[in-house]
Amino acid sequence: MIKGINLSKIYESGFISKKGIVAVDGVDIEIREQETLALVGESGSGKSTLGRILLLLTKPTSGKVIFDRVDLTRLRNRKLRDLRRKMQIIPQHPEDALDPRWKLYDSIAEPFRIHKIAGKDDEEETVHKLIELVGLDQELLRRYPHEVSGGELQRVVIARAIALNPKFIVCDEPTSMLDVSVQASVVNLLMDLQRKLSMSYLFITHDLELADIVADRIAVMYAGQIVEEGIGVLKDPLHPYTQTLLGITTPISREAITPRGCKFYNLCPERSSKCLNAPKTVEMSGRRVKCHLYMEH
Ligand SMILES: Nc1ncnc2c1ncn2[C@@H]1O[C@H](COP(=O)(O)OP(=O)(O)OP(=O)(O)O)[C@@H](O)[C@H]1O
Ligand SMILES: [Mg+2]
Repeated sequence: MIKGINLSKIYESGFISKKGIVAVDGVDIEIREQETLALVGESGSGKSTLGRILLLLTKPTSGKVIFDRVDLTRLRNRKLRDLRRKMQIIPQHPEDALDPRWKLYDSIAEPFRIHKIAGKDDEEETVHKLIELVGLDQELLRRYPHEVSGGELQRVVIARAIALNPKFIVCDEPTSMLDVSVQASVVNLLMDLQRKLSMSYLFITHDLELADIVADRIAVMYAGQIVEEGIGVLKDPLHPYTQTLLGITTPISREAITPRGCKFYNLCPERSSKCLNAPKTVEMSGRRVKCHLYMEH
């Protein structure tokens, strides 16, 4: 359904001596019809950048994004805007997605107006349906963002995101800023809507327990790369990084010496001299692992 091929993103930084930050480094990723792929990894590993690249909200430095067999990286702006209806993002901070000066009704109705889809009566009926679908009261529509709770606001963002029947949604830590007491209900809502509307999710989180609950498959990101991906990753982790993430082993801190080999080299409890060369991703019974331990030599 949506596929990223050899995606990289380098952010240029430094005014005089140009230094690049490699946020995403040669990633292959695929999210299938009606599937949830959870993307986990520590802060700064490149999860949000990868999610935004798949939506072409961030332009990749290299690589391709294929959505429904169309190469998005080659589309002109107008075509891309048309396809955008089918792809949405639910961000960590719901207030980022909504205009604080607008009533919530107008925020939910905006996608119809941008794409000139519904007349006024249709628009009203659809907005009312949407607000019901996300479990909120119609009365809320007259309020402004600062007049509702974080959980309610995230539900409004969700209503807006599903307004145009998307096929793919990037959920970027959609509940991490919410009160613990409402997190589960928002996650349940997202899972419910996925089933009802047949959508695919890339679900970004650093909550491993949550990833296990929502995901069909899990991808583990480290330093811009997917180091392990598949089913049962958290029950039976193969990559040394995944094992440290789960607390099964402890990372070892050594002097940094390898810019070219495996990115986990300096911290890896299982490293050997082979690891000075970058490992390839190997596939075995549905699991993909980027580690020399599993490469044939
Ligand atoms: N617009 C930008 N300009 C420069 N560097 C950026 C930009 N956005 C992200 N980065 C850098 O790219 C790297 C990956 O960032 P990203 O936000 O994708 O990580 P993340 O895994 O989503 O982290 P978090 O869990 O904290 O959200 C980081 O080193 C970050 O500082
Ligand atoms: Mg992020």
